[in-house]
Amino acid sequence: MIEPFDIEGKVIAITGASSGFGHHFAGTLAAKGATTILGARRIDKLERRVAEITEQGGKAEALPLDVNDSESINKFLDQAYKKHGRVDVLINNAGVEAGAKTYQTTEEEDWDYVIDTNLKSAWMISKRYTERVLEHKQQSGNIIMVSSITDSRTIKGQFSYAVSKGGMTRMTEVMALEAAKFNIRVNALAPGYFLTDLSRLLLESDIADEFIKGIPMRRTGEFPDLDGPLLLLASDASRYMTGSILVVDGGHICASL
Ligand SMILES: NC(=O)c1ccc[n+]([C@@H]2O[C@H](COP(=O)([O-])OP(=O)(O)OC[C@H]3O[C@@H](n4cnc5c(N)ncnc54)[C@H](OP(=O)(O)O)[C@@H]3O)[C@@H](O)[C@H]2O)c1
Repeated sequence: MIEPFDIEGKVIAITGASSGFGHHFAGTLAAKGATTILGARRIDKLERRVAEITEQGGKAEALPLDVNDSESINKFLDQAYKKHGRVDVLINNAGVEAGAKTYQTTEEEDWDYVIDTNLKSAWMISKRYTERVLEHKQQSGNIIMVSSITDSRTIKGQFSYAVSKGGMTRMTEVMALEAAKFNIRVNALAPGYFLTDLSRLLLESDIADEFIKGIPMRRTGEFPDLDGPLLLLASDASRYMTGSILVVDGGHICASL
């Protein structure tokens, strides 16, 4: 029998680990015995997180990463492979939004910023990761995308963000199909609404209470709500799962019309 959620000794790279989900994921994964590699642009925040994790007995390293910069992606992966010889799991978590904008108020620079950071970069880093899995003759690889329930339910005023997540879900499915022959699995977490710097604009606005009433469980998510689904996807417990989108949203996408 496979030990459920066992990630002891795995090397796990997380993009966007300087705040929010990525910051939390690093702690969860390190506490379960993984070596975590934290990437983001704000290196000071990464280093502080690494110090916290190390103090708690976990294994963590900070590496600068700008997912919109091809060179930076290569450097990030190369440094991880140089040190460990493998990356067992890549978590494509880095993401941004462009404020409350509809398709009409979205400017070209908003579109480029959000689509490039959330969608193009996830493809680019996954492509580069796959090259290294093959070069290093890893037996398997594992990519986890951090998508969102805006991939499948519509919401007004988050135009480029929702489009990016819709694309990410389809990317997960197509990549899963194409990567299966390399024994690389590709799955996605699709969280509902959690309070982070990214969702603050909505969840701390005047309409927040009304918005939360629309969630069947009547609350926003808390970081530990994601731990089980994350550990499932990161571990061999999900070894026959690929192309799956795991929704973690308190029932939000099932909300009544
Ligand atoms: N919060 C929610 O309710 C929610 C729901 C569903 C999905 N998500 C998704 O969860 C992911 C994490 O978001 P969050 O809510 O945790 O927000 P957050 O606290 O704002 O974190 C975003 C992370 O992305 C990183 N990032 C942004 N641009 C980057 C770049 N060019 N290169 C490298 N890293 C970059 C940021 O690091 P630096 O600025 O230091 O580079 C930061 O660590 C996103 O993909 C988001 O779409 C969030």
